[in-house]
Amino acid sequence: MKKNVVLFSPIPHDQQERLAQAFNLTVFNGSPDADKQAFITALADADGMIGSNMGTKIDAEFLKQAPKLKAASTISVGYDNYDLTALAERQIRLMNTPKVLTNATADLIFTLLMTAARRMVELSDYIHQGKWLKGLSSDYYGTDITGKTIGILGMGRIAQAIAKRAHAGFDMNVLYYNRSAHADVEQAYQAKRCELDELLSQADFIVLVLPLTEQTYHIITQEKLALMKPSAILVNGGRGKLIDEPALIHALQNKAIKAAALDVYETEPLPLHSGLLKLDNAVLSPHVGSATIETRYAMAKCAVDNLIAALNNVPPTENWVNPDVG
Ligand code: DGY
Repeated sequence: MKKNVVLFSPIPHDQQERLAQAFNLTVFNGSPDADKQAFITALADADGMIGSNMGTKIDAEFLKQAPKLKAASTISVGYDNYDLTALAERQIRLMNTPKVLTNATADLIFTLLMTAARRMVELSDYIHQGKWLKGLSSDYYGTDITGKTIGILGMGRIAQAIAKRAHAGFDMNVLYYNRSAHADVEQAYQAKRCELDELLSQADFIVLVLPLTEQTYHIITQEKLALMKPSAILVNGGRGKLIDEPALIHALQNKAIKAAALDVYETEPLPLHSGLLKLDNAVLSPHVGSATIETRYAMAKCAVDNLIAALNNVPPTENWVNPDVG
């Protein structure tokens, strides 16, 4: 008998077809919130679920609604919205899509860095607003990137792809802060591992690509912002809760640092009353690290592969977040 699966994010048609062939599929395209009762009813019978982060914590309470669930496949690399302890208690497998989005996300993070450094949003607005009537005043000059120091928090796949771009493309000095040393990265990109405070005080560009955990929550506080150079540019491509956002807004308002370029926020979508929206020195993108046509397709395919494998008891792959389960 076919297993029951709930799909709660839009995915390409051919990938949805693969799910429909393998399982009894119930589809909630877009937000399951729109049809909450039907979603809860479908979960009650589900063996598997697949989708991207729907902003809901998948914890013991949520899992009570899915008493038969055996596998969850997230269309993302991050899985901080899943409570791993609750999954382990219920012996539910969790898979993610860690490899296919590395380059797209590193590209976006570098785009943010460059956009903030060269003030592209402000300059584009300047032309759109009809202000380009004579030569540009030095008030609008940007900051050099080549040869500067980048400090990367984290050294997973995406961080390594950023280090590669920084070293090979922009002759940057690469500093990194990470639990473990990466001799290969140190050798390939002449990267230097250092303590957090040292990195924050030395780097011209500080780039966050850490996962969100209890240890990394608010790793950037008011005190840490105070260690940064007034010329520093802070880029967040990890998770919004890595930064104490009110403290960052305060630092940007007071020009304690030069600028921030953010793809992720403490609350998403970013509330319309956020102070970030009033700041010229905040470059903002709506959580689009992996949002290219090719990469989102590859992520959906990977997540479908993961779910089919997990519900067919194929042994764990490197995409299996909790291989000790199941
Ligand atoms: C990821 O894959 O974790 C991206 O941040 C999207 O959530």
